[in-house]
Amino acid sequence: MSVSPRLNLIGAGRVGQTLGQLWQRTGVLQVQDVLTTSPASAQAAVAFIGGGRAVATLNDMRPADYWLIAVPDRQIAASAQALAGRDLLPATVFHASGALAAAELAPLQAQGWAAASAHCILSFATPAAAVQQLAGTPCALEGDAAATAALQPLFTAIGACCFPLASDYKLRYHAAAVFATNFLPVLQATAEALWRDSGMPSELLPTLRASLLRKAVDNLLALGPAGALTGPAARGDTALVQRQGQAVSQWDAQAGAAYAALSELAARLARHGQL
Ligand SMILES: NC(=O)c1ccc[n+]([C@@H]2O[C@H](COP(=O)([O-])OP(=O)(O)OC[C@H]3O[C@@H](n4cnc5c(N)ncnc54)[C@H](OP(=O)(O)O)[C@@H]3O)[C@@H](O)[C@H]2O)c1
Repeated sequence: MSVSPRLNLIGAGRVGQTLGQLWQRTGVLQVQDVLTTSPASAQAAVAFIGGGRAVATLNDMRPADYWLIAVPDRQIAASAQALAGRDLLPATVFHASGALAAAELAPLQAQGWAAASAHCILSFATPAAAVQQLAGTPCALEGDAAATAALQPLFTAIGACCFPLASDYKLRYHAAAVFATNFLPVLQATAEALWRDSGMPSELLPTLRASLLRKAVDNLLALGPAGALTGPAARGDTALVQRQGQAVSQWDAQAGAAYAALSELAARLARHGQL
């Protein structure tokens, strides 16, 4: 019987536990050693993953075929530096950040390790939800060719849809996800504050929120961004756009600047059908 390659996890929160459980359960990889910030959380991660051994320090981790550094972004470089300090035989190392490139792992690359980043475009809200939702998720692979070639079948085996991403475009690519999801609540909060400050009864807001958002999503899915676009900028009514922009600026200067910038993008979208 063939033995699955071994995976060590440095960091096993939402992403580490999700990927760890999926690979362990499918037998694609065998989770070996798991390091977090405390023995208790490492033990809980091992229990969720259904395999592996919780360790207390980096020095307790045994050599492995794959190392996933799934710590918060700001800790990735320090974790790679610390791992390089072990002077192990080179293996494949990867992190899961959408914004940062494989170059965060430079100290290991300098020792001959194959390094990559692998970013699944999914909100890993909880590991229990994410293991159900990962199949079908696009996954951006970036970094050393040997590492991305080795990782592609591992991610494909758990249902991710891999695509290559150039290192220089990682920040731009991740900003797109911010536009697609993170800004939506900001836009909604701005609209609701404006409605409240225009005298609209607050009990109407929940109904308005649900109906407008649902219809906007339905239209977007059916017609695409350009087809679903409505409003004064889309109609080319620049005089109204300006007057409305001034009214928003008087209410809140930052919201006014956002209104002006988004109106220009809306006009471009209406004119050209794309940005
Ligand atoms: N969450 C998402 O939706 C999402 C989506 C795509 C990509 N990502 C990326 O995935 C990576 C991990 O994010 P996450 O959401 O899984 O983070 P998380 O849930 O906060 O988990 C971070 C893990 O790292 C551990 N940790 C922190 N500092 C450490 C250190 N110095 N040494 C060892 N372990 C350490 C934590 O330990 P404790 O368990 O003890 O706290 C925890 O297990 C990030 O690069 C992030 O950008 C996240």
